[in-house]
Amino acid sequence: MRIAVAGGTGWTGRLVVDALRAGGDEPVVLARSAGVDLTTGAGLAERLEGVQAVIDVSNIVTTRTKPAVGFFQAATANLLAAGRRAGVGHHVALSIVGVDRVGLGYYLGKRRQEELVLNGPVPGTVLRATQFHEFAAQMLARTGPLVLTPRLLAQPVALGEVALHLVDLAHGRPLGLAPELAGPEERLQMPDMVRRLKRVLGDRRPVLPVRMPGAAGRAMTGGSLLPAHPGPRGTVTFQQWLATRHPARQQQPAPAERAHEARDGR
Ligand SMILES: NC(=O)c1ccc[n+]([C@@H]2O[C@H](COP(=O)([O-])OP(=O)(O)OC[C@H]3O[C@@H](n4cnc5c(N)ncnc54)[C@H](OP(=O)(O)O)[C@@H]3O)[C@@H](O)[C@H]2O)c1
Repeated sequence: MRIAVAGGTGWTGRLVVDALRAGGDEPVVLARSAGVDLTTGAGLAERLEGVQAVIDVSNIVTTRTKPAVGFFQAATANLLAAGRRAGVGHHVALSIVGVDRVGLGYYLGKRRQEELVLNGPVPGTVLRATQFHEFAAQMLARTGPLVLTPRLLAQPVALGEVALHLVDLAHGRPLGLAPELAGPEERLQMPDMVRRLKRVLGDRRPVLPVRMPGAAGRAMTGGSLLPAHPGPRGTVTFQQWLATRHPARQQQPAPAERAHEARDGR
């Protein structure tokens, strides 16, 4: 299938693109670096020609409500409108387990994205996943003397397994809100995950756990981001994933390794 990946250059998007190629699909990357601005819609119509499904893993890095809601509102509305015009048959969006239970500004943006997809003009699927093992690497990838890390309780999942699941969903019929995807049963504190990865990578910066303010912070530390319903579960534990990390690969695994390393448990 010809499948567009919105955010196809990001942490998730690269793995989705690799997984599509490995499975014989034709990925089409939608990102500013590929000449598409989702927030204005510039370049979308041309890139969506002949596309049968869209997988949206685009993102804005913010905890604030206004930019988060502004980004997900504009990007999702533009993708859906251009998708309808191009005859896209299935729109798959990646969301987060617990967004409906935590009032953090970023999650309000994700809720807006979900509403638009579930009520939009293109048949849709929303996959809520828990935090990735790679969330810890994303914290370490930020520059600065301290590694700021949100306090949250997670049941993390390997990003490679999320990417493969998104591709499977894109090949299937639209599900609306799909059963939520989480990692194997272990529950971990995010600052501990970051410290464990830091030791493997030899990063000497101190970790500074940050509790989000008010009710959102209480919900995040109190388990509101854990899966509340049955659904698919990844198999790769955080410890197994850590064993694949290496100081020379602090950012992301090399392309050929990415899509299959989680499946192989490497
Ligand atoms: N981190 C987690 O643990 C977790 C858990 C569950 C779900 N999720 C969800 O996973 C999704 C992907 O997150 P990620 O961390 O993989 O994202 P990311 O690495 O920040 O990548 C963002 C992508 O969006 C593109 N993008 C940003 N602004 C754009 C614009 N205006 N127009 C076109 N493209 C734009 C970027 O490409 P350019 O810069 O080239 O434009 C990039 O490809 C997010 O929606 C997030 O909510 C994350």
